[in-house]
Amino acid sequence: MRHLPELFANNRAWAAGRVAEDPAYFRRLCGLQAPRYLWIGCADSRVPANQIVGLEPGELFVHRNVGNVFDPADANAMSVLQYAVEALDVAHVIVCGHYECGGVQAAFGGALKPPLEGWIDYFRRVREAHRRELDALPGHEERWRRLCELNVAAQVASVCRTDVVTSMWARGKRLTVHGWIYDLTDGLLRDLDLSTDGSGSRGSGGA
Ligand code: CO
Repeated sequence: MRHLPELFANNRAWAAGRVAEDPAYFRRLCGLQAPRYLWIGCADSRVPANQIVGLEPGELFVHRNVGNVFDPADANAMSVLQYAVEALDVAHVIVCGHYECGGVQAAFGGALKPPLEGWIDYFRRVREAHRRELDALPGHEERWRRLCELNVAAQVASVCRTDVVTSMWARGKRLTVHGWIYDLTDGLLRDLDLSTDGSGSRGSGGA
């Protein structure tokens, strides 16, 4: 029995297209994984990491979950970070959120069923920490957008506190952590100016 034949057809067409352009494409790709970037993004289907930054297979190491959370207590996220930084030697960690994030919006709503309920707590905590700023905004739309940005900042801070990152910095390795946000309405990324390379300077971003 064959399921989802349209996806397999797409896949065959894609693979054939790659080989038509470059006969050595897959041979070269499986020989080496050397991405310069780790992407920590939302699982949202409208925010496909490689496509929005124009990177090919092999160029971006990706971790995605609901609301682009980075929790050092999450073995999944931590393993991705550790492997990307220590084994793949990425130079940049990009935490990318997006406006109109449903996970972040859930922080404004009522209780959900577990385990999603527990996950939404990440965003509720960010909301709580910035309640005064958020409450001062004129409406829900503005509060939601701002919480999406504040969530990125919280996850960037969380990445920067890990032993994986601080020990790299202590050894003088170049590693920059960035906070970006993606706008679904125009397809554009915005740098939230949170970039840090452990030297105490912010906003420079590095090469
Ligand atoms: Co989202």
